[in-house]
Amino acid sequence: MIKRFLFAGIVCLSVAACTKEEKSKTSEADAFIDSLINEMTLEEKIGQMTLYTSGWDVTGPTLNENYKEELKAGRVGALFNAHTVAYNTDLQKIAVEETRLGIPLLFGYDVIHGHRTIFPIPLAEACTWNMEIIKETARLSAKEAAASGLNWTFNPMVDISRDPRWGRVAEGSGEDPYLGSLIARARVQGYQGDDLSDPFTLMACVKHFAAYGAAQAGRDYHTVDMSDRVLRETYLPPYKAAIDAGVATVMTSFNEVDGVPASGNKYLLTEILRDEWGFDGFVVTDYTSINEMVPHGVVANEKEAAELAVNAGVDMDMQGSVFNDHLQKLVEEGKVEEKRIDEAVRKILEMKWRLGLFEDPYHYLDEAREKEVLFSKELMDHSLAVAKESIVLLKNDPVNSKKLLPVSKEVKSIALIGPLGDNQQDLLGTWHASGDAGKVVTVLQGLKNEFPDAKITYAQGAGFSGDDRKGFAEAVETARKADLVIMALGENYQQSGEAASRSEIGLPGVQQELLQAVHKTGKPVVALVMAGRPLTIEWIDESIPAVVNTWHLGTMAGQAIAEVLSGKYNPSGKLTMTFPRNVGQIPIFYNMKNTGRPFQAENKYTSKYIDVPNEPLYPFGYGLSYTTFTYNGLKLSKTEVTGNDSLEVEVTVENTGEYAGEEVVQLYIQDLVGSVTRPVKELKGFKKISLKPGESQVVKFTINPDDLKFYTRDMSFKAEPGDFMVTVGPNAAEGDTIKFSLK
Ligand code: NOJ
Repeated sequence: MIKRFLFAGIVCLSVAACTKEEKSKTSEADAFIDSLINEMTLEEKIGQMTLYTSGWDVTGPTLNENYKEELKAGRVGALFNAHTVAYNTDLQKIAVEETRLGIPLLFGYDVIHGHRTIFPIPLAEACTWNMEIIKETARLSAKEAAASGLNWTFNPMVDISRDPRWGRVAEGSGEDPYLGSLIARARVQGYQGDDLSDPFTLMACVKHFAAYGAAQAGRDYHTVDMSDRVLRETYLPPYKAAIDAGVATVMTSFNEVDGVPASGNKYLLTEILRDEWGFDGFVVTDYTSINEMVPHGVVANEKEAAELAVNAGVDMDMQGSVFNDHLQKLVEEGKVEEKRIDEAVRKILEMKWRLGLFEDPYHYLDEAREKEVLFSKELMDHSLAVAKESIVLLKNDPVNSKKLLPVSKEVKSIALIGPLGDNQQDLLGTWHASGDAGKVVTVLQGLKNEFPDAKITYAQGAGFSGDDRKGFAEAVETARKADLVIMALGENYQQSGEAASRSEIGLPGVQQELLQAVHKTGKPVVALVMAGRPLTIEWIDESIPAVVNTWHLGTMAGQAIAEVLSGKYNPSGKLTMTFPRNVGQIPIFYNMKNTGRPFQAENKYTSKYIDVPNEPLYPFGYGLSYTTFTYNGLKLSKTEVTGNDSLEVEVTVENTGEYAGEEVVQLYIQDLVGSVTRPVKELKGFKKISLKPGESQVVKFTINPDDLKFYTRDMSFKAEPGDFMVTVGPNAAEGDTIKFSLK
C-alpha cells in the first residue's frame, strides 16, 4: 500500500518523502499532525497510545509477546526495553516501511543512572549536592543511551520518601522537596538538552506521579494516603520542577492517592498536571497500572479501567494492552469521546515530531556513533568523578590518637573482608540498565591500584543472606595478619530497588556478626557500608572507629572508594536521607513538626520513645571530611522585611584542618507561628564551597519572598507576617541561628 503523508498541505508519499525543510519548520508541526490525525483510523490512533516491552528486558508481567505482529498492524506506537542500533533499526523499519502510515516508533528504557557505563545510584548522586555534576550525569547517560538507539528514558524518578524500608529510595533524591526539585530540574535539563531533535539527547519522563514514595510501611506498591497540604507541600514540588524544566513525559504511579489509583486519578492527571501546571507533553502509565485498578477495587474489569484511565488523562498505556483491547468499543459506546483520543495522540505525535523522527526515523540509529560513544573515556572519567563525590564519611575517630582515614600510604598490609570486596555485579546497584558488570572496578582492584606497595589480602567471610558462618574463620585469620582491615559490607543489587522493601534494614544476613568477629581481633577496622538505602547501623557507629557510606557507585566504584580511603579525594558527600537508629523510628525526617509537647528529657509526658532517642543516628545533610570547618559571624542584611523584600544572609566558613576540602553550607528556615503548624526546619538554600587549609570564605545566601510561602489554612500559597528563624550549618541538626520578622 502507498503510504501517504499530508504535510502542510503537501501530499508526501511517505514520511521520508517530505523534504527536510518542509518538516523541520516547527510552525508547521501542527498542520502536519492535524493532517496525520485526519488520516488515521481509530485503531491506528489507539495504537499510538500503546507501549509494549520488547522481549529483551522485562520488568513485570508480559502481556503481549506478539508485538511484532501488532506493530505491523499499526497497533503499537512505542516500544521499551529494546536497544542497540541493530535491534532497533529492524523494529523501526517495520514501523516505517510495513505499517500503513509509516509512523516511527519511540524507544524507551529505564536509563536510571547510566545505560552501559553506570554512575552511582541516584540517591548516592544526590549526596553530592552538586547540580552541575548531576546534570552532566544525565547528559552523558542520554548520550550513551541515544547512541544505542534509544530516544526516551523513564527517568528522573523524583519520589520524595521518608521511609528507607521502601527499596525504591535508591532511585530518588531522598527526603527533601527543595533539594529534590533542584535535582529534578538538573536531570531533566541534562537528559533533554536544549533541543530534543539532537540525537545525543533523550526525552525524559518524570515519575511516578504521584507520591509513590509515601507507600504505607515502606511496602512497595502499597497505599498512599495524606492530606492535600502534605501532598502539595512535600511530595509534589519535584514533579512540578520537572514540568517547569520542560520534561517531555510524565509516568503515573502504581499507588492510590486519597482512594483513587494514580492511573485513574483525574485530580492528579488533569486538574493538577494539565490545568494548574500547564503540562504539555504526554502521560504514560507505569507498567500495567491501568489493569491494576481492578485489584485496587475501583473498577470491576479492564474495560472500565481503560475508560477511567483515559478520561482521567492517561495518554499512553504501558504494557497493559487495555487501550488496544477496549478503547475502540468505549468510543463506539460514547463512554470515551474521540476528541479525547485525538488529544492524547496529538501529544504523542508532537513528541515524535520534536524528536525529529518524522524528519528522519533513523537518526538515533547510527552504528558508528554507537561504537564511538559506548564506554568512552568521557563517560568513564565522569563515572569516577561523580562516584567519589557521592561517598559520605560517617565517622572517623582516632585510634591511639590517630585517625584511621585517610589510610597512610605507608600501610604495609590491608585485609579486605566482606561480600562486596571482590564483587562487580552488586556495585552497579538497582536498575542498572544494560550496565556491564565485567567493566566494574572492584574494591579489591581499586585498593591494589591506590596502594601498590601494600600487601592486600581478601576474604569474603559471608554472603548477603542466610546464616552461613563458614567463612568467618578465614576472614578472622586474614584480618589477624594485616595492619588494617577494610570491611566491604552491605546489600546486593537486588536488596534495594523495585519490589525490594525490607522490614529490617540492618546489614543483611550475618554480615554484622562477621564484622563483630573481625572487630574482636583488635585490629583497626574501617567499615564500608555499601547499600541502596540508609541502613540501621547503630552498633557499627558505636564500635567501629571509621565508617564510610559508599552506596552503590556503579562502574568505577572500587576506584572511587580507594581514592577516598587513600585521601586522593577528600570526601564531601552529605546525606539526603536521614539514617534512623532502628526501624521503629521510621518515618523519620528532618523537616518534622514540633508537636504540642516537644521533647524534654525530664518530662515523661512529652513526645518521645522510652527505648530510643528521638534523634536519628545521622541527620539529613550530615557528612564529614578529612578536614574540619568552622562557622562564624552569621548575620542578616536586615532583621525586618516587608512584602516583596529579599534578605541577604552571610556566614564565614573556615577550613581549620589539614586538608583541602569541600563543604556544603546549608541554610534552613523555620516559620515560628503560622495559621497552620510549620516544620521545625526547611532547607531553603545551600552552597558547596572548596577551601584550602586555613582558608576562609564569606558564604552568602538570599532569602526571597517565595521562600517564606506555604499552604496556609485556606490552602492559599503565601507568606504570613511573623518571626522566622534562620539556621546556617553543616547539616540539619547543627548550626547557628538568627531571627528576622516579616511585617
Ligand atoms: C515499573 C517501574 O515502576 C517503572 O519505574 C519503570 O519505568 C517501568 N516498570 C518500566 O520498566
